[in-house]
Amino acid sequence: MTQLLRVQNFNVSRDGYGAGENQSFERPFGHADPATLAAWAFATASWPNRTEPGGSRGLDDYFTRDFHHNIGAEIMGRNKFGPQRGPWQDLEWQGWWGDEPPFHTPVFVMTHHVRPSFTLSDTTFHFVNADPHTVLAMAREAANGRDVRLGGGATVIREFLDAGLVDTLHVAVSDVELGGGSRLWESPDELDDRYHHEVVPSPSGVTHHLFWR
Ligand SMILES: NC(=O)c1ccc[n+]([C@@H]2O[C@H](COP(=O)([O-])OP(=O)(O)OC[C@H]3O[C@@H](n4cnc5c(N)ncnc54)[C@H](OP(=O)(O)O)[C@@H]3O)[C@@H](O)[C@H]2O)c1
Repeated sequence: MTQLLRVQNFNVSRDGYGAGENQSFERPFGHADPATLAAWAFATASWPNRTEPGGSRGLDDYFTRDFHHNIGAEIMGRNKFGPQRGPWQDLEWQGWWGDEPPFHTPVFVMTHHVRPSFTLSDTTFHFVNADPHTVLAMAREAANGRDVRLGGGATVIREFLDAGLVDTLHVAVSDVELGGGSRLWESPDELDDRYHHEVVPSPSGVTHHLFWR
């Protein structure tokens, strides 16, 4: 069975940024406000961090509910994992997600500065210094027949797009402008030469862009 490489629930601003500038420990998304960029997802019944019952059950919920479906591994960039740059100053840092990271699979963190793997609950983080083809091969093996999620940020998504490795993308465009940061695209139409592209506006105000090939 084909193992897909899937981008899911990746949030960008109207001008195509997946994160703002000046990321820090206090601001994982830099000057972008995740509560605005991902407001559509936080409002759904299937949002994994939901602490109170309720939430919407419409189209947006379909996407948050699908997040874990048939995923066996995740690939992410080092800046999604944390705000440190260059050689690791602090190996105590184990990501933003606390003792129960929401991945529940092996996670391959791409970086030129490798460090030992570690496990939190049922998520193991591996640090790999390799090209996209090699990292994808490792993730596929770890995924044990299931699909691989490409979790972002925009830098690694662009790298895998350039290498022709992404099978499906779901990008949610929010009606906010960031003006700078980590950019996925200037326009979603940039991918139209390579993918079928369906634009699905949601009643919540976010616009879902679906790409497949
Ligand atoms: N909008 C969303 O839905 C969403 C989703 C996920 C993350 N985010 C946000 O996006 C931001 C991070 O995105 P980003 O574009 O700045 O960075 P990123 O894609 O997370 O990571 C880029 C880093 O990955 C490493 N890397 C990339 N390609 C590599 C290769 N071929 N070999 C070795 N290492 C490689 C490099 O780290 P080294 O410098 O260590 O070598 C590079 O600086 C964060 O603010 C995060 O919170 C947003």
